[in-house]
Amino acid sequence: MRLIELRLKNLNSLKGEWHIDFSDPAFLNEGIFAITGQTGAGKTTILDAICLALYSQTPRLGDITGSTNEIMTQGTGECSAEVIIEIDSKRYQCYWYQHRAHKKAKGNLLPIKHEISEVQTGKILEEKKSKTSAYIQNLIGMDFNQFTRSIMLAQGSFAAFLKSDIGDRARF
Ligand SMILES: Nc1ncnc2c1ncn2[C@@H]1O[C@H](COP(=O)(O)OP(=O)(O)O)[C@@H](O)[C@H]1O
Ligand SMILES: [Mg+2]
Repeated sequence: MRLIELRLKNLNSLKGEWHIDFSDPAFLNEGIFAITGQTGAGKTTILDAICLALYSQTPRLGDITGSTNEIMTQGTGECSAEVIIEIDSKRYQCYWYQHRAHKKAKGNLLPIKHEISEVQTGKILEEKKSKTSAYIQNLIGMDFNQFTRSIMLAQGSFAAFLKSDIGDRARF
């Protein structure tokens, strides 16, 4: 699986709309890049957004349910995370969204929307919140734990990896 694009809106300290195009030559040419910034700037939130779009959960908050949403930026009435991924030369859009009544910060939380569609045709492959994560998991061949272990290694778990016993390392 290749990550092509990420869009997010109102997640944690990342208020407003944000867009990262991983297909930009700047990323491709370097092959490896770092996300830097002060603590609380929103580095981990970028990874949270990818997890939300794919699995509707984050390592920090677990499954985001219809009734609690601590990731929506305080004082806002909606939040979203969307990724474009590529598998075997085919592109898919994975979209996660939740809003409050009237999109007002004090409105009641409304049900989460989570869907996957084909980029080329716009055809929706799954749009039931209860089924979309499983659909995406099958498609990319990794469950949430495997995915977070592989992409989050650069984050806090890296120290744990270095300190772990050899036998344990295969688990990362
Ligand atoms: N619902 C929220 N609304 C606004 N800010 C939030 C919310 N939840 C968490 N935050 C803030 O978002 C930031 C999270 O940043 P994080 O992505 O962990 O940053 P980094 O990884 O760069 O240290 C923290 O400063 C936290 O206080
Ligand atoms: Mg962090």
